[in-house]
Amino acid sequence: MKIFLDTANLESIRKYNDMGLLDGITTNPSLMSKEGGNPKDAMKEITKIIQGDVSLEVVSTKYAGMMEEGTRLREYGDNVVVKVPMTPDGLKACKSLSSEGIPVNVTLIFSPNQALLAAKSGAKYVSPFIGRLDDIGHDGIHLIKEIKEIFSNYNFTTEILVASVRHPMHVVDAAKIGADVVTLPPAVLDKMLQHPLTKIGLDNFLADWEKLKAGNPNIKI
Ligand code: E4P
Repeated sequence: MKIFLDTANLESIRKYNDMGLLDGITTNPSLMSKEGGNPKDAMKEITKIIQGDVSLEVVSTKYAGMMEEGTRLREYGDNVVVKVPMTPDGLKACKSLSSEGIPVNVTLIFSPNQALLAAKSGAKYVSPFIGRLDDIGHDGIHLIKEIKEIFSNYNFTTEILVASVRHPMHVVDAAKIGADVVTLPPAVLDKMLQHPLTKIGLDNFLADWEKLKAGNPNIKI
């Protein structure tokens, strides 16, 4: 399963990319707004740091505007994936951009039918928002199971990009289903790295090493 980071924060992107963990990045207007500054600078920099796919979202709601913005966004790099909303105009733009060889991520997917339609429009990725479904008492992970089954039945090549991930168990569940990608807020990725027994184990190893050194101060690895 590929791991994308769901952020426009350059420090986090560099940090996890240096660990070799990132296959790509997803952003959206809210994430851009959170970082402030000129989003163009952030977009340019992210596409430079990351080799893999970087989703940059349009803000137009009409087909013509989405096409114009999508074409402009692609100027930031060959790894740019144009993110469009799951609307009639979004799907029309998805079809046109995909036919021109520009990869598209259809975002704000909340039902299996929306995922099916986005795949038929030629999307490279569909982004089902599982956390937001959980928030309103639905089962986000169940949606991933349904999309996976439908895409497998018809051999769609569209990838399932699990979005709106809130905690590490979402990641485990998505991986068990065989989702293609999860996009993670930095805080969730950070939690996945940690285990209390790892910290306790390391503290014990280092304390024992100090004991050994006490009797032999010149010792080195
Ligand atoms: C995905 O592409 C979206 O940017 C993101 O996962 C939305 O997550 P949220 O529900 O935490 O805002």
